[in-house]
Amino acid sequence: MASFSTLFSTLILTIALLSFSCSSQQFFSPVEKDPITNLFSTLLWVGTEPTHEFNFVIDIGGPILWYDCNKAYNSSTYNPISCESKHCTNDAGCTSCNGPFKPGCSNNTCGANIINPLVDAIFSGDTGSDALFIPKSKIKVSDFISGCTDSNAFADSADSDFPLKNLPKTSKGILGLARTPLSLPKQLSLAPFKLLNKFALCLPSSNNLGSLFIGGVGSSLSKFQLTKVPLVINPFSTAPIFTDGDASYEYFIDVKSIKVGGEVLSFKSSLLSIDNKGNGGTKLSTMKSFTVLHSSIFKPLVRDFTKKASDKKIKKVASVAPFDTCFDLSTIGKTNTGLDVPTIGLVLEGGVEWTIFGGNSMVLVSKNVACLGFVDGGKEPRTAVVIGGHQLEDIVLEFDLVSSKLGFSSSLLLQNASCSNSNSVNKMVKSSESFISVE
Ligand SMILES: *[C@@H]1O[C@H](CO)[C@@H](O)[C@H](O)[C@H]1NC(C)=O
Ligand SMILES: *[C@@H]1O[C@H](CO)[C@@H](O)[C@H](O)[C@H]1NC(C)=O
Ligand SMILES: *[C@@H]1O[C@H](CO)[C@@H](O)[C@H](O)[C@H]1NC(C)=O
Repeated sequence: MASFSTLFSTLILTIALLSFSCSSQQFFSPVEKDPITNLFSTLLWVGTEPTHEFNFVIDIGGPILWYDCNKAYNSSTYNPISCESKHCTNDAGCTSCNGPFKPGCSNNTCGANIINPLVDAIFSGDTGSDALFIPKSKIKVSDFISGCTDSNAFADSADSDFPLKNLPKTSKGILGLARTPLSLPKQLSLAPFKLLNKFALCLPSSNNLGSLFIGGVGSSLSKFQLTKVPLVINPFSTAPIFTDGDASYEYFIDVKSIKVGGEVLSFKSSLLSIDNKGNGGTKLSTMKSFTVLHSSIFKPLVRDFTKKASDKKIKKVASVAPFDTCFDLSTIGKTNTGLDVPTIGLVLEGGVEWTIFGGNSMVLVSKNVACLGFVDGGKEPRTAVVIGGHQLEDIVLEFDLVSSKLGFSSSLLLQNASCSNSNSVNKMVKSSESFISVE
């Protein structure tokens, strides 16, 4: 009786595989903004028996997904990646451990560099594969390769440079979405899922949930029109650790000039190009809450912004750290795109403009004061313009690694919309039974 049930499950599997190979599919995961750190995170589940529900900070410039496999962590489906594996880049050496065996303690294991950009240290860890669940999409990825580190091993060090330091209290790791072989979009672009190697973000400005889509813009966001510009490859690594000759895996775009209130800002425009050491240029980062500018761009920006604000009878008040330029809220009008302040425009290839309205430029620091949400990056930052989280909220961003393009919408506030989706706040019941698993 090579039975009906075998036949039936083969049929189901075939249907599942067929529906996965038509690659216009996206996997959704809700995005939460932490009010203390202003970082964005998403819930994913890792491992089995038990499955761990972890909150991961989203780092679009991070090379891998990593999590805390401390003393209390174990998983029966974990497999260490050996040092000889083709998945092992060998840039973090080979690790060994005296047991007992568990994730983060095994022999001949491919090391992982555990990077938390908010800490001035790189932590050692292991590379392993385990089940990863994207709960909201009911997707189980059986052999997802990630890094893990035992936070207990670092916790006693004197000044406690701890892998999870400065992340939201509830976070247990970082979801890196950079242009790397082990990023989540790249791994899901391979068999069996074969999604397009793209991801999209709609970052919320409130405590309602936004969206992360792996595989490209999901249907709930497809009504917003995207302007596409090339993603630029910086031929010099901007990572805290790298091998000579490595290109940067972060996302750069070519900003040609910057406008304030419609007028081009004057500064040394060569700062906007990437020089022969990889300095300069413009990148996007979800690990900086506010856009950081080279001093030689920051100073004229603040000067022109203040001048144009004063033309609108907006009154300047004392600065409030980390911001330089703050205003009396009662003197600023309101529009549907936020406070009525001079716009800031990033002029991109082909004259395309990314316009930043009050909702993305201004930060309310108290009941009466709103500040320009840009910070001074000093005279020698590696990258001249780092567009931070606050400036990325309430717009749709699509990172398309197939065509190497960034798609961006205008502020959703212009269309009386936002990235906050109040309907998706309900938590899921933790059960991995009904998950779609493709072997
Ligand atoms: C972790 O789980 C594995 C597989 O279930 C088991 O063999 C191992 O003994 C466990 N390790 C610890 C330290 O509990
Ligand atoms: C790793 O190898 C060392 C030395 O051979 C051995 O003492 C240890 O028990 C091994 N650890 C595990 C987890 O197998
Ligand atoms: C958005 O709302 C404002 C005020 O309620 C209205 O004037 C405007 O026409 C709306 N815009 C769109 C695109 O719906």
